[in-house]
Amino acid sequence: MNAVRIDGKAIAEALRARVAREVTSLQVQCNITPGLAVVLVGEDPASSLYVKTKAKQAQAVGFKSRQFLLPSNVDQAQLLELIEQLNTDVSIDGILIQLPLPGHIDHWRILEAIDPAKDVDGFHPYNIGRLAAGRPILAPCTPLGVVHLIKTVVSDLNGLDVVVIGRSNIVGKPLAVLLGDFGCTVTGAQLQTRNLPNLCRRADIVVSAAGCAGLVRGDWLKRGAVVIDVGINRTVDPAGAVKIVGDVAFAEASERASYITPVPGGVGPMTVAYLLANTVDAAVSRRALAPMTRLEARQIGTSRVVEKGLAG
Ligand code: GUN
Repeated sequence: MNAVRIDGKAIAEALRARVAREVTSLQVQCNITPGLAVVLVGEDPASSLYVKTKAKQAQAVGFKSRQFLLPSNVDQAQLLELIEQLNTDVSIDGILIQLPLPGHIDHWRILEAIDPAKDVDGFHPYNIGRLAAGRPILAPCTPLGVVHLIKTVVSDLNGLDVVVIGRSNIVGKPLAVLLGDFGCTVTGAQLQTRNLPNLCRRADIVVSAAGCAGLVRGDWLKRGAVVIDVGINRTVDPAGAVKIVGDVAFAEASERASYITPVPGGVGPMTVAYLLANTVDAAVSRRALAPMTRLEARQIGTSRVVEKGLAG
């Protein structure tokens, strides 16, 4: 079998185009321009790049985009003060604090300070609780992107066996909840899980978000499995060239899988696209223009609130 690549770049582009149309509708019908504030503490190169991309794409879809670049020694009280300002700023609908934060800052204290209605990352305990209860409002972006990619190639997830490798708050845990809501039987695995290869061999869908280059081998996969690679790992080859690779041994896995995401160009672009989609949803729901769109409604290529004529 030679797996078909799932083109996350193209799928994300389509979602961004849709968000841009929604922004135009909001502007024309309601005189609303969604506002997104992105906050970076320190100068980590990867985080700087992510933040720049997020701000640039926010601008491209028509948002009011604001970036706050703070020095790595900023103290927690100053950061809390900025969040409070953004919470009360009516022109800001979404607040994103790029993680990880420096060690001297209590990241939970920061995440809990964000108004849950502006928490476009879906990391506030309120939003985590809503998701766990099956009533998501703002759900984390990477898991939404993963489900979207899976839905482009599997129409009915009901009853499928899924292994999610990695139990982070950003990806693995919320993704397991979302997939469970779609009727999947989800095994939440991690690097130390016993018999991980055998577990994966039973799965219809394998998602790896472990951050371990080349972890998932071709012979870990059932023939025809769908493979989603969330890993972004920096490797240096013997010649000294830096390369970004995923968690999946791509060539081997392609021999067994039916569909597979590449790295780069798979899940990564979807995360940013869902950040934009969440910001539109936050702009709409904060103003009580319409009941909040549910995940099933907005996904995944079906109806979104703006198109349902929320402006009325
Ligand atoms: N760091 C890595 N992924 C993410 C993300 O999705 N959101 C934020 N805020 N920080 C991250």
